[in-house]
Amino acid sequence: MQKKLSPEERANIVAEKRQVKAEVRAQTIQQVKKQRELAASRKKMHSEIVTAIKGDKNNQAQYAKEEKAFKRDDKKAVAARVAEVKTWYESQDKTDKDVVRTYKWKMQEAKRPNYDFSGIIKFENISYAYGVGTPFEHRALDGVNGLEIQPGKITAVIGMTGSGKSTLIQLTNGLILPSTGRTLVGNYQLYAGMKKIHEVKPLRKEIGLVFQFPEYQLFQDTIEKDISFGPINLGRNKSDVVKEVPGLLKLVDLPEDYLKRSPFDLSGGQKRRVAIAGIIATDGNTLVLDEPTGGLDPQGEEDFMNIFNHLNKDKGKRIIIVTHNMDHVLKIADEVIVMHEGRVIATGSPFEVFSNQKLLEKIKIEPPKVYKLAFKLKEQGLDVTKKEFRTIEDFAKAIKETRK
Ligand SMILES: Nc1ncnc2c1ncn2[C@@H]1O[C@H](COP(=O)(O)OP(=O)(O)OP(=O)(O)O)[C@@H](O)[C@H]1O
Ligand SMILES: [Mg+2]
Repeated sequence: MQKKLSPEERANIVAEKRQVKAEVRAQTIQQVKKQRELAASRKKMHSEIVTAIKGDKNNQAQYAKEEKAFKRDDKKAVAARVAEVKTWYESQDKTDKDVVRTYKWKMQEAKRPNYDFSGIIKFENISYAYGVGTPFEHRALDGVNGLEIQPGKITAVIGMTGSGKSTLIQLTNGLILPSTGRTLVGNYQLYAGMKKIHEVKPLRKEIGLVFQFPEYQLFQDTIEKDISFGPINLGRNKSDVVKEVPGLLKLVDLPEDYLKRSPFDLSGGQKRRVAIAGIIATDGNTLVLDEPTGGLDPQGEEDFMNIFNHLNKDKGKRIIIVTHNMDHVLKIADEVIVMHEGRVIATGSPFEVFSNQKLLEKIKIEPPKVYKLAFKLKEQGLDVTKKEFRTIEDFAKAIKETRK
């Protein structure tokens, strides 16, 4: 039998129900308020990007004009380039299929505008929004202006998740075009107003990009084909390229008998190794690496850092690397670009960036281990953070010198 409730108990239950109702109501009001705020901020962002795009129209017209002028001047040099290729072909074995293929390629190249992609990479008035006018619109870059990436150097791009690092580096090889402004790769420009990216092949010959998620990059049915695809597609002799593939597999520490295996059966880390091998095979002057060591063990990470360092120091490659590993940045970078909420908030040497405690706190990034130690020492009254050090040995030396 059900127990009869006392008037007091009944009153308590009524009060409890009321309280729950009030809480639910308060929560709903809060949620509606939040949604309204979000909608308002989206609207504001949308109108800002629309205004920025409109305001950039004159710049775009200017870039298009420069483009036209370049092509007009370059046309005058085409005849000489074509003659040079013909002379080369005369001395070749014309029955060799590879030679004929290379000839056709060279001829095609000779007729193309002869851009120099090897110079400074420069970002001017760049903003970038994904899905403009859709419910998924998101401004990933906001006014990146005057940023330069030098040839022959190792430049690291750092910043919190979502700060715009991948978006920024994808602008370098034309995977995406900016919403405003332009990216210059040497004297070649990628600008918002372009209807279509032209000269993609020579651009990709200069700039090889390893995606943050390399599974998007592999598409051939064997690893051998995947690694050799880039260089063959960019005009190199097929048999020459195929001969180099075993050496490349060795370089990225994959067994040689993987040649005929499918790249899709590999682990994440192994896929990454194949993607990196493909970019090295392409042999462009610039390697853009988006968190290239994700999914690798510490030894694998270390090995790749050494490979990238070697490609820079011994082969003069420009390396642009996005990484969350600050120890690596300190070890190999010449320059650091610090991104925050779609903006570049600092650039400088690793020493300049890592000795700036306030900056690191702002972007919520842990400094390299030696800098952590240096900050601890500073708290104890021994400040070596103004010295330049990359290794424990340099650090010990800095302490010794400061204590003198
Ligand atoms: N395809 C897309 N559509 C809409 N928004 C996107 C898209 N890709 C990225 N974004 C948004 O743009 C912002 C910048 O993204 P980006 O990938 O450049 O950041 P990131 O610095 O590389 O981050 P992470 O360190 O996580 O790789 C993020 O807020 C992200 O959610
Ligand atoms: Mg990213």
